Amino acid sequence: MSLAALRTPDGEAALAAAASLAGGDPLAAAAALRSRGVPPDLAAAALTQTTLRRQAVTKFGPDAAGMFFTRAGLEQATRAVVARRRAERLVAAGVRSLADLGCGIGADALAAARAGIRVVGVERDEATAEVAAANGAGLFSVVHGDATTFDVSGFDAVFCDPARRATGGRRVFDPAAYSPPWDFVEGLAARVPRLAVKVAPGFDHDRVPAGAETELVSVDREVVEATLWCGALASVPRRATVLRGGVAGTLTGSGAAAAPVGPVDDYLYDPDGAVVRAGLVAEFASLVSGRLGDPTIAYVWAPSAVATGFARCFRVTDVLPFSLKRLRAELRSREVGTVEILKRGSAIDPAAFRRDLRLSGRESTSLLLTRVAGAQVAVLAQPVAL
Ligand SMILES: C[S@@+](CC[C@H](N)C(=O)[O-])C[C@H]1O[C@@H](n2cnc3c(N)ncnc32)[C@H](O)[C@@H]1O
Repeated sequence: MSLAALRTPDGEAALAAAASLAGGDPLAAAAALRSRGVPPDLAAAALTQTTLRRQAVTKFGPDAAGMFFTRAGLEQATRAVVARRRAERLVAAGVRSLADLGCGIGADALAAARAGIRVVGVERDEATAEVAAANGAGLFSVVHGDATTFDVSGFDAVFCDPARRATGGRRVFDPAAYSPPWDFVEGLAARVPRLAVKVAPGFDHDRVPAGAETELVSVDREVVEATLWCGALASVPRRATVLRGGVAGTLTGSGAAAAPVGPVDDYLYDPDGAVVRAGLVAEFASLVSGRLGDPTIAYVWAPSAVATGFARCFRVTDVLPFSLKRLRAELRSREVGTVEILKRGSAIDPAAFRRDLRLSGRESTSLLLTRVAGAQVAVLAQPVAL
């Protein structure tokens, strides 16, 4: 059924009724809607949309209740907090008009429009374009068409978030299989003065257009995406943006610096994934006057606890040579029944390891499995709230 039916007065009534039934048994909800005279296909469409809206709350908060989605569109949509930050940066760079090439359900377009930018979204998939137009009503416009032939000459900047899924929903990792494909994006980088591109966090740095800035973004410690800021939008080679509870911290650098390496210390920092993936561990280490225990491992050892949003911090109680037997005995003698296991540079499977430890007791500790100067160690530590 087309989205238009859900936007009629009957459709809106069906959506409101479906929302009031949400969360229960779907078959019972469908029967309840039909018993209120809602035609079966409208009832099914309203229930599907209601389910998607509920799932969308994690990305869009309360706005989700008034938005429209397709399942694939929701899965690929940028979280509102990330889209808003990107939009603010575009505004700060003087962007007043934006072409969003492959706009999906319109999450980025919506944030940019709300930030005051005139946005035109281009979307090839008809149903998705219809959804984007509904989400953008009164805020941005949508063209149903192919982004690769869209004329971007009248816009201050271009944004592109290529689809990274093959038919059937499978993720694609080769940028050549992105849609629009990577050679189109590279061509844009060469011909438009301001381009921002959303890519996967693991995007191969060798493919980043020359002179572009790579920004890694994490939300509540999960690395969610990278943005490549090309042309006049670039400001530094690398940036890690760490969003926690809606508050952002930003670390910048060259991505080429090497952190000092040295002995273990009283505190151990586990840098945020955005910092690690941006190649900014050396910059982070200098913030806390720290060093690596091993040149290949991104744990930073330092003499004190420094307030930072770029890492978790632990007060180290013991650095033990790695041995299951020895650890089991230590944890038993301390009555540790609960361990949080973290690892870098260790092949251990934490779940199996936890079972093998056979813990019991009232105390808790963090256990960090890693290497120091090439040797496997087990670090017992307490998290420090910074
Ligand atoms: C990753 S999604 C965009 C998500 C969007 N940024 C958001 O946050 O809602 C990519 C979209 O590009 C569309 N697309 C792929 N190739 C396209 C093309 N050649 N022209 C226009 N749209 C295209 C896909 O249908 C998909 O909806």
